[in-house]
Amino acid sequence: MSKKPELHQDDPETTGHEWDGIQEFNNPLPRWWLWTFYVTIFWAVAYSIAYPAWPMVHGATAGLLGWSTRANVAADIAAVDEANAAINTRLAETGLTEIADDPELQAYAVNAGQAVFNTWCVQCHQTGAKGAVGYPNLLDDAWLWGGDIEAIHTTISHGIRNTDDDDARYSEMPAFGRDELLSAEQIDQVANYVMSLSGEPQDAAKAEAGAEIFADNCAACHMEDGTGDRSQGAPNLADAIWLYGGDHDTIVQTVTNSRFGVMPAWQPRLSEAEIRAVATYVHQLGGGE
Ligand code: HEC
Ligand code: HEC
Repeated sequence: MSKKPELHQDDPETTGHEWDGIQEFNNPLPRWWLWTFYVTIFWAVAYSIAYPAWPMVHGATAGLLGWSTRANVAADIAAVDEANAAINTRLAETGLTEIADDPELQAYAVNAGQAVFNTWCVQCHQTGAKGAVGYPNLLDDAWLWGGDIEAIHTTISHGIRNTDDDDARYSEMPAFGRDELLSAEQIDQVANYVMSLSGEPQDAAKAEAGAEIFADNCAACHMEDGTGDRSQGAPNLADAIWLYGGDHDTIVQTVTNSRFGVMPAWQPRLSEAEIRAVATYVHQLGGGE
């Protein structure tokens, strides 16, 4: 049995609670603690008045200071635009072929162009512009429509076979099988001939028969020797670089149904400075002419 402890004269009152003989003094909270507590209450109320805080049916209370993350981002963007306004104007007004002669402008264009590329182009042309089936690699020196800065600029501005721009680059390979321009046998033969152009193993007899079919049906766009025609975006078939694929079945597919690759026009979506920046970026990737 524990003995109830003695209380002294100057001890504070107890709360009356007692556990196993231990009594609880009714001490006031420490001042510093109490004041900190009041300050946090005041802070919470003031904060929720000053800043967006309380959820409502639509959105939240706006707060007296009018602070918003969206407005902050918009202000940051405006500040960057303003800081770059002068160089963007210079970029938009300098002759395309003269950008490279101005090291500061060239460096700016490549950096800004990389940012544009990573936002708008990688979905199709892939990271680092390495390309994918149907989406050309922009690193190599095989160009469908042309690899000098002016040709690249035109391609990007107006796009390819799209409906958003009347000046889009356009051409259409016939669907030789689907539209019954050639029989399946003839397509098999011309596919073997196409394979022979880049030295792939093929059936020599079929390829020989295919040569004539090629001259009659394909050379108008892909040229006699199969090296292609940039004015029509007709790929070089003799370089072993393939947009869709150079195996027998893929070539038969292409010739049977045609492909009709589409790229959007960027001139309605990007500023002239942005288009020049991304054209400069693509041009200096390695294949620029
Ligand atoms: C929706 C997919 C898509 C997007 C997005 C896209 N492209 Fe393309 N791009 C294509 C296709 C498809 C082709 C090839 C079309 C063809 O068969 O001629 C192409 C072709 C090109 C070519 C021509 C290559 C050559 O060999 O002549 C350039 C240059 C190019 N794109 C740059 C860009 C740039 C720069 C952007 C971003 C601003 C971009 N593309 C965004 C689909 C796309
Ligand atoms: C009117 C022009 C035109 C004619 C005629 C034409 N082509 Fe094409 N060909 C193209 C274009 C343009 C492309 C690019 C693909 C696209 O449409 O996106 C292409 C693409 C190809 C490809 C795909 C190449 C790759 O890199 O994957 C092959 C293979 C091909 N053509 C073979 C032929 C053969 C064989 C014939 C004849 C039977 C032929 N073409 C006739 C314009 C033509």
